Amino acid sequence: MTKIAIVEGDGVGKEVIPPAEEVLRFFLPDAEYIPVELGYERWLRTGVHCTDEDIALLKTTDAILFGAVTTIPDPDYPSIVLRIRKELDLYANLRPIIGPDFDILIVRENTEGLYSGIEWQERDRACTLRVVSERGTRRIAEMAIGLTKERKHLTIGDKSNIMASDAYFRGICTSMAEEANIPYRTMFIDALTYDVLMHPAAYDVVLTTNIFGDILSDACGYLAGGLGLLPSANIGEDHAFFEPVHGSAPDIAGQGIANPVAAIRSTALLLEHLGMKSEGEQVFSAVDATIREGMTTPDLGGACNTATMGQAILDKLLTEL
Ligand code: IPM
Ligand code: MN
Repeated sequence: MTKIAIVEGDGVGKEVIPPAEEVLRFFLPDAEYIPVELGYERWLRTGVHCTDEDIALLKTTDAILFGAVTTIPDPDYPSIVLRIRKELDLYANLRPIIGPDFDILIVRENTEGLYSGIEWQERDRACTLRVVSERGTRRIAEMAIGLTKERKHLTIGDKSNIMASDAYFRGICTSMAEEANIPYRTMFIDALTYDVLMHPAAYDVVLTTNIFGDILSDACGYLAGGLGLLPSANIGEDHAFFEPVHGSAPDIAGQGIANPVAAIRSTALLLEHLGMKSEGEQVFSAVDATIREGMTTPDLGGACNTATMGQAILDKLLTEL
């Protein structure tokens, strides 16, 4: 039986995950859904935010749907998202940015680079080691190339003019793209970030390192019409984790106005990952139709709240079948 962990987390995570879970239950009524409490609010109540047992439990599932967690203001409690990515070895972060005349897929390396976690403090400076390994690069390049074969072309974004670690990254990626005989180009990440905002239709698959992919995906939130719209998939060899790109948004949490689209589109990616491609596409279409009809939360100019927009999307799925 398919086993799916549901982590609402904190803040708007608690608001956007319930409608997203309903979409999953609609397509997978017989799956086993396992609620897992992680995050800041749990820490406030119990003094722990995520245990070894939680990680072990997540490892037993086929997929994880995750809302957002608030960072705990204590360095002894490191990021839960990073811990999950690392321990489940979710090396590929896939972030589709879709609009009326563009369809971009950011493929972000998700386990190393500036997120290596190898850091130390000296008397008068703090250092973070930027690690770009052959294995780490080859596997993300392979993923991006495989996806490009089903799509159009690949853009490799880096800062190889400045950093040896990125020259290494570019070298491996370009030689693999050559071998695979796919259309590709290279760009410096700063120029790419500007250009993608100017000419989004010129981009398809974009492959980059960890921190650049993080920054680029938020910048592209502007193209998509807001961070409340962007879903993401974190994929590894054995595990998969799906989350909105946005965080717990404490500024609007509790008001019931968070846009559920990023979370619901994340369920579309989850369904596709489980081999349910046409169901995933149905979710994307239902979301698009709902937005077109103006049944949206206030961030997109509508008068819905999180629950009613979620319901409108679900109604679309029910009537389309
Ligand atoms: C993201 C977030 C994460 C990141 C944080 C929460 C660790 O910003 O998924 O984009 O930096 O990768
Ligand atoms: Mn981010």
